[in-house]
Amino acid sequence: MSNYITALQAVLADSYTLYLKTQNYHWNVEGPHFKSLHEMFEEQYRELFDANDEIAERIRALGEKVDGTYKGFSDKASIKEGDMNLGEHAMVTDLFKSNRQVVKTIKTAMDAAEEADDQATVDMMVARTQAHEKAAWMLRSILPDAERKKLDAAADY
Ligand SMILES: [Fe+2]
Repeated sequence: MSNYITALQAVLADSYTLYLKTQNYHWNVEGPHFKSLHEMFEEQYRELFDANDEIAERIRALGEKVDGTYKGFSDKASIKEGDMNLGEHAMVTDLFKSNRQVVKTIKTAMDAAEEADDQATVDMMVARTQAHEKAAWMLRSILPDAERKKLDAAADY
């Protein structure tokens, strides 16, 4: 299997794991901002659900099978699964960091697709980068000042 399709499988694994994590937090978030967080998480997991299908079908169009199993995804994912017991700010911070992490995985796939001269995959990865950066911006924006400063101080992006 060509390198960049393996890299694309890693993007799908990260995107699927983030989808599940975002829905997990949609279900379990508690606190004074329940309604807005519950709704924001829903918007984001729905966007990820559609993206997962696009990425998987791109892999099929390139001639490879897609391992759509929890084990397959967890073996390939670079982000960790969610923790339903986190507080609301910790959930938002975790989703922010995970979105930033997926951007890195996407960059690897984008560079590899560029190398393989597959412009359609490059374009898809550009669109996915924009979606994750938008989600990260929205998540960061709803944190209180102190939490945001902590996040920015620790940032490696
Ligand atoms: Fe729901």
